[in-house]
Amino acid sequence: MKKFILPLISIAVLIQSCKNESSKEHSYDEGAKELIEVIDKHSYSNIESVRTKHLHLDLLVDFESSKLVGSVEHELEYLDDAKEVIFDIYGLSIEKIEVDGLETTDYKIGELDELLGQPLTVQLPKKSKKVKIYYSTGSDANALQWLNPQQTAGKVNPYLFTQGQAILTRTWIPCQDSPKNRITYSARIKTPENLMAVMSADNPKEINPEGVYNFKMDQKIPTYLIAMAVGDIRFKAIGEHTGVYAEVEMLDKSVDEFADVDKMIAAAVELYGPYKWGRYDILVLPPSFPFGGMENPKLTFATPTIIAGDKSLVSLIAHELAHSWSGNLVTNATWDDFWLNEGFTVYFENRIMEKVYGKDYADMLMSISYQELTHENEEILHGKHPDDTKLKLDLDGRNPDDGMTCIAYDKGALFLRTLESKVGRDKFDVFVSNYFKDYMFKTISTEEFVTYLNENLLERDSIRFNLDDWIYGQGIPNNRVEIKSTRFEAVDKKVFALYEIEEVQDLGISKGDWSTQEWIRFIRCIPEKIEPEMMQKLDEFYEFSTCGNAEIMAEWYISSIQHGYHGMEPAMENFLINVGRRKFLEPIYGQLVLTPEGVELAKSIYTKARPNYHAISYKTIDEILNWKVEK
Ligand code: BES
Ligand code: ZN
Repeated sequence: MKKFILPLISIAVLIQSCKNESSKEHSYDEGAKELIEVIDKHSYSNIESVRTKHLHLDLLVDFESSKLVGSVEHELEYLDDAKEVIFDIYGLSIEKIEVDGLETTDYKIGELDELLGQPLTVQLPKKSKKVKIYYSTGSDANALQWLNPQQTAGKVNPYLFTQGQAILTRTWIPCQDSPKNRITYSARIKTPENLMAVMSADNPKEINPEGVYNFKMDQKIPTYLIAMAVGDIRFKAIGEHTGVYAEVEMLDKSVDEFADVDKMIAAAVELYGPYKWGRYDILVLPPSFPFGGMENPKLTFATPTIIAGDKSLVSLIAHELAHSWSGNLVTNATWDDFWLNEGFTVYFENRIMEKVYGKDYADMLMSISYQELTHENEEILHGKHPDDTKLKLDLDGRNPDDGMTCIAYDKGALFLRTLESKVGRDKFDVFVSNYFKDYMFKTISTEEFVTYLNENLLERDSIRFNLDDWIYGQGIPNNRVEIKSTRFEAVDKKVFALYEIEEVQDLGISKGDWSTQEWIRFIRCIPEKIEPEMMQKLDEFYEFSTCGNAEIMAEWYISSIQHGYHGMEPAMENFLINVGRRKFLEPIYGQLVLTPEGVELAKSIYTKARPNYHAISYKTIDEILNWKVEK
């Protein structure tokens, strides 16, 4: 059975919001009430009764103890006559709590759930407006990665960054940690003297000699988008409203790499309406950052592994930028609706890439994503949770990170592509623009989206479409659009030629002839039967192992392991020790553990590499290697 959670109410809310678009004074409360209907299984908070409107952080960044110490003050809004407010916390030491300025002991902390943390329930005497919690972070604060100087580019100063999505903000801030709730925030951050702090907010451009920084985020965002980084960070402008924050060693390279960001913003705005966040800056993190990118508002966090020197990996910036609409303006109501964030973003990302770099290039990107999708879809269908191939997920009792598969991203995008081709691009673009406008600064569940889609696109034009198959069904429906790349067809011919040639020169392709994406395609498609000797010749000729492009290197290491070629192992070891991006680590370690020799090698590398990884990454790799840590 499909899960429609109170569809009647959603429809009522929708009709309401379509009718009186201009009645702003009511929309806040209506919006708040609308949230009640969808239950977030990943938060203890009682936002249906009382919720944070604004929070203020006052934190000291203590690198000695690897702790954040200070307070958070919540300004509350009531939806009923709530007598208590429930926050999510994880591993925090709560020192003291004040309600409307008076200390209270009338609070309790529930039992620890390994996944969700603990509920912190504070009693509220008569509609108290403010709850201030004094606290410090614990040693299991998985949102935080504290880097020692050796793990940075400069090697002199320590570094700290946070990663809130999906449910980690509660490990550094006591808060109602559900994407359904939107808040504004402000912060006062005290750092060691020579360091800079930046947040998903308005940011400084210079280091403050005293190490005191004040921040404001005046637009309502979900808590998973509160973010901070502290280190020897410098700023350099790209355009008038865009720039890069990075350690000085990475600054110029990054500015060059991201030179097209203003064009990307212009393309995005032309597609789907105004950019609502003022500035758009990019923070380039140290290589242990566990993700490719994170769409923290105003300040995308990015891995340095996209700095390839030739702008060939900047679609990641298009992706994080696109989240400024899909995800940050219009947010998934729960983590079961994650595809609404990522599917729209992958679709949007590709449209930006098409506008800025042309259709041929965008087609290659789409084709890579389709190849990954078909592969992972099969894997999931034959695994423990075949229902994870549905767009609408059911992650009850599981880590929301489990939803971070190609399904949300690439099946989501393919669904939208297919819709686009069914209704025509012009109509579809109008629909998407209106969707972003109507749900701006709101959250939306899959069920509400289906209603909206039916009412505003499909029914209006009497279009029949198998929505249920796509959203509530497993796998990839047959009516998907065909994804084709002419440039890849040419690459595939060369792949087959590998069977016939003696020497790599006979392929007739030199290093500079192909783009990164064409090389990725080539490496991925190297037939199983190709001998290790040919792999070695390819490596000697094209120098994949040490080429400096992280996507190509990772792809090459995986293929080398598959083909029994060992010459790349020193380079791979170096890569695995330095790079902490989970997307690369997972398939490389995953490939290694398929043979007994591989397991040995993986374990010996992991011993050296693990201390460099973020908790998000080492938890995944611990599982792959069955790694036991003594506590
Ligand atoms: N929002 C995600 C990252 C994320 C998702 C973090 C879920 C935690 C939980 C971000 O926008 C993203 O998708 N990053 C991708 C890159 C993208 C180009 C597909 C990544 O990090 O690989
Ligand atoms: Zn994303």
